[in-house]
Amino acid sequence: MKIDLYFKYFDLLKHIKEIAPFTPDISLILGSGLGDFADSLKIHKSVLTTSLPGYPPSTVEGHSGKMHFCEYKGKKLLLFQGRIHLYEGYEIYETVLPVFISYKTGCRNMIITNAAGGVNPDFHPGDLMLAVSFNGISIKKELTRLIGLAKPDSKTFMIDFPSGEINDKIRSAAELENITLREGVYWYNKGPSYETPAEVRMAAKMGADAVGMSTVHEAVFAAYLEMKVASISCITNYGAGISAQKLSHDEVTETANKVKGDFERLIKETVEMV
Ligand code: HPA
Repeated sequence: MKIDLYFKYFDLLKHIKEIAPFTPDISLILGSGLGDFADSLKIHKSVLTTSLPGYPPSTVEGHSGKMHFCEYKGKKLLLFQGRIHLYEGYEIYETVLPVFISYKTGCRNMIITNAAGGVNPDFHPGDLMLAVSFNGISIKKELTRLIGLAKPDSKTFMIDFPSGEINDKIRSAAELENITLREGVYWYNKGPSYETPAEVRMAAKMGADAVGMSTVHEAVFAAYLEMKVASISCITNYGAGISAQKLSHDEVTETANKVKGDFERLIKETVEMV
């Protein structure tokens, strides 16, 4: 079935145009732990995503489903508190709605944040990792379908991810804020189950530095729309099998909460440069 995204979300996009108080300089998808980032900014408008026509309700604990138009030091931000995961059973085109909405407000810069498991043996819970590339092999089929839905022609194209320009700003921001920033490859696992130790070992052998259940399709869609996009992961735990401790969502949110201060400073400093 071929779905025209613009047609399918016509009412939603019209609604966004009516309520958006400004064209954001940058848009952010907030992963686990960064959820309440908006509280530290000047909020112009907050919207429950359930009030948006056609927007899928979030089913994940800690992802409360709000969209905030905010301001920080003169920069205009659009924040998505709560994301839509493929593992919640949604269609790929539903999961990229935050990107699509950002694009339709006229925003052309994005930072996607997420919680991830550390695979690189030098990474530890609490580290922040800037993505230098990703591996999305396990959702290639969905990605092909997504771009097929949005693309009027069948030309192949190169994904410009991450944006070198935004990554350089994030690196400078980390230096200014004295925050250690790791760099590495984000490896997508559809979830909702965490990886097995064998899968983590395989991912490590194939170049993964961190594993997570989001971001790749969002970044691909943003890059396809010619937005500048970067991704920062909060390493919330060791990948399965790396430590003896059993993985849990509680561990993920606990670590993310501990690092929240650094994460917020890093994002704020970066936003000032955009
Ligand atoms: N694996 C996948 N997703 C995650 C992890 C992990 O270890 N930690 C946080 N999100």
